[in-house]
Amino acid sequence: MGSSFPKLTSKALLSPMAGVTDVAFRTLAKQYGAGLTYTEFVSGTAIVRGNEKSLLMLRTDLIEKPVAVQLFGNSVQDVVDAARQIEDDFDIIDINCGCPAWKVIKTGSGSALLNNPEKISFFINKLASAVNKPVTLKIRSGIDEQHMNAVEIAKLAEDAGAAAIGVHGRTQKQGYSGKADWSVIKQVKEAVSIPVIGNGDVFSPEDVKKRIEETRVDYVLIARGAIGNPAIFQQVNDYLKTGTYESIDKIKQFFEFLELAKKYELPFNIIKTHAMSFTKGLEGSARVREGISRADNLKELINVLQACRNQVQMKNYPVISVQ
Ligand SMILES: Cc1cc2nc3c(=O)[nH]c(=O)nc-3n(C[C@H](O)[C@H](O)[C@H](O)COP(=O)(O)O)c2cc1C
Repeated sequence: MGSSFPKLTSKALLSPMAGVTDVAFRTLAKQYGAGLTYTEFVSGTAIVRGNEKSLLMLRTDLIEKPVAVQLFGNSVQDVVDAARQIEDDFDIIDINCGCPAWKVIKTGSGSALLNNPEKISFFINKLASAVNKPVTLKIRSGIDEQHMNAVEIAKLAEDAGAAAIGVHGRTQKQGYSGKADWSVIKQVKEAVSIPVIGNGDVFSPEDVKKRIEETRVDYVLIARGAIGNPAIFQQVNDYLKTGTYESIDKIKQFFEFLELAKKYELPFNIIKTHAMSFTKGLEGSARVREGISRADNLKELINVLQACRNQVQMKNYPVISVQ
């Protein structure tokens, strides 16, 4: 019957993100001190059918441990079979009950499950009795403002054998708009004894500290705040330990990512998307990003990023002319 949630070495965890949390990105986040990394959500049905693209999403790096796999699906049997098939490679099996995308909810998976707390409970119960790894779930606060049932679901999930619960403080209806409501996350924390992982709008080390102090959650998931900036985990850890942190060069982070991306032979389009993220918000980034979008191959992409790095270095270390 399942098992308990491991004690993690950081309060900040890398949230699952489709198209972002590939093995290279997760490994870099881990190197920068993320307490836990999650694969992007992978269809249980696709895994049992041996879908190649889905199986590629299940690659992990040895340094990632502990690492979580996030599964989704409407068929409990498929998700249970998939979990059994892959459990040896992961430390935690997480079920997605939060995705608001139409193509997912129309099949009854992701956040559509919030409409059916009994099914979530059944899911967790079946999974927890089928695998030897801790089973967790990630939910939203509810379907909409009139149907905020995160507390009810958390209690049912705990009774069914969940080892921890992640709560994104937005409703399905909100998608990514508005603000995450951390008061719901606090209510969940007060209602259950399993670890609660808060999520939503955490973009800085200060946000992590504030949310933990306000709600007493055990951990915090960071998603958008880590895109193009996995070093945020080092900053969070430094800040929680010493009260200060340093900014970390994003271009340097990109080249670190690139080494891992090459190791794992990630497709060029994925590397290019990451390159866009690592250069977002940098001074003069419009031109760099234009160059990235025009790059047709890795060599061209590296040239653009290298030129950007040289420019930053020249700015930081002005050339002293010798008379
Ligand atoms: C590009 C992108 C992809 C996402 N994919 C997933 C996913 O596969 N599984 C999941 O549970 N949540 C997914 N999410 C939601 C995030 O994990 C997180 O719950 C949400 O972005 C709120 O956290 P944030 O405010 O720190 O971004 C995704 C979010 C983004 C931006």
